[in-house]
Amino acid sequence: MLTGGGDCPGLNAVIRAVARRSFSRGHEVLGVREGWRGLVEAKFEPLGPREISGLLPRGGTILGTSRTNPYKLDGVESVLANFEREGLDALVAIGGEDTLGVATRLYAEHDFPVVGVPKTIDNDLSATDYTFGFDTAVFICTEAIDRLHTTAESHNRVMVVEVMGRHTGWIAVTSGIAGGADVILIPEHPISMDEACEDIRRRHERGKDVSIVVVSEGYELEGLTDEPETDEFGHVRLSERGVGTRLAREIEERTGYETRVTVLGHVQRGGSPTPRDRVLATRYGLKAADLAHEGNFGRMAALQGDTIVDVSLEEATRELKTVPKEWYDVARAFFG
Ligand code: F6P
Repeated sequence: MLTGGGDCPGLNAVIRAVARRSFSRGHEVLGVREGWRGLVEAKFEPLGPREISGLLPRGGTILGTSRTNPYKLDGVESVLANFEREGLDALVAIGGEDTLGVATRLYAEHDFPVVGVPKTIDNDLSATDYTFGFDTAVFICTEAIDRLHTTAESHNRVMVVEVMGRHTGWIAVTSGIAGGADVILIPEHPISMDEACEDIRRRHERGKDVSIVVVSEGYELEGLTDEPETDEFGHVRLSERGVGTRLAREIEERTGYETRVTVLGHVQRGGSPTPRDRVLATRYGLKAADLAHEGNFGRMAALQGDTIVDVSLEEATRELKTVPKEWYDVARAFFG
């Protein structure tokens, strides 16, 4: 198995579950180091009971990860050759849209025996209600918002909190609702700076001296241009755009209220998974091991309602799952 893309709380819990179920069937399990790079460069490590012990609460990934794209590196032939040379029967790819996008293509074009597990704090994969890691990120952001409330109240300030979410505002909307944000800005349902500042002004005119603004790193702030540098999947480094900092400056200039910014960054991905993510990751891991054992390739473990099902990798990676308007309306009911 391999873990690819940004790390995410719960990766180790999946590794443990895949391995435990596979051991119980007499299979040997090999870890691929650093995502797809490990298959391109033949970096493998055997996983036994010792290696997977103590993994359930541990953040990060014991296998390492990377944003390597074999299709960009001319690495597909190496992936196929190394897989064959090692005598492997199945690959469990644990990743988000990019890692699973590669898995989808390898399956479609080479009948590659791969199954997927949906990972990303962004929660933007289709065909599954939730990806693991999201709950932990939301928990961390909500706690931060709670803390920012008390310091904001002491100083009568507007606090801008920038959270992750490359293309979608799931983390912003969910933690914003949970933390009682007064304005939430996300890429899918953009409100203008005028509207945001009006919401803040209205609050302050009602006698509230404090406002919490949650902004998703992918929000298109007027006048903000992207860094040209991209990764192997063509994504810009959003943390470099500084949307939170620019937004705070803009709010202060337009409203005259003292404003500060907190960029939560990679704190959102670090540390131990929540109990919910541990359980979800474990259920996904068991399902992926079952799919691999049955030879049910080209599939991904998914959560629908409270049931773990399998869906096609193609369906899961065809388009991103964005925040529906109904969700944003829940948040919006509390703006201003
Ligand atoms: O896809 C997960 C994610 O955390 C995004 O929310 C964020 O934009 C990106 O990864 C950050 O990537 P990196 O760790 O490479 O800076």
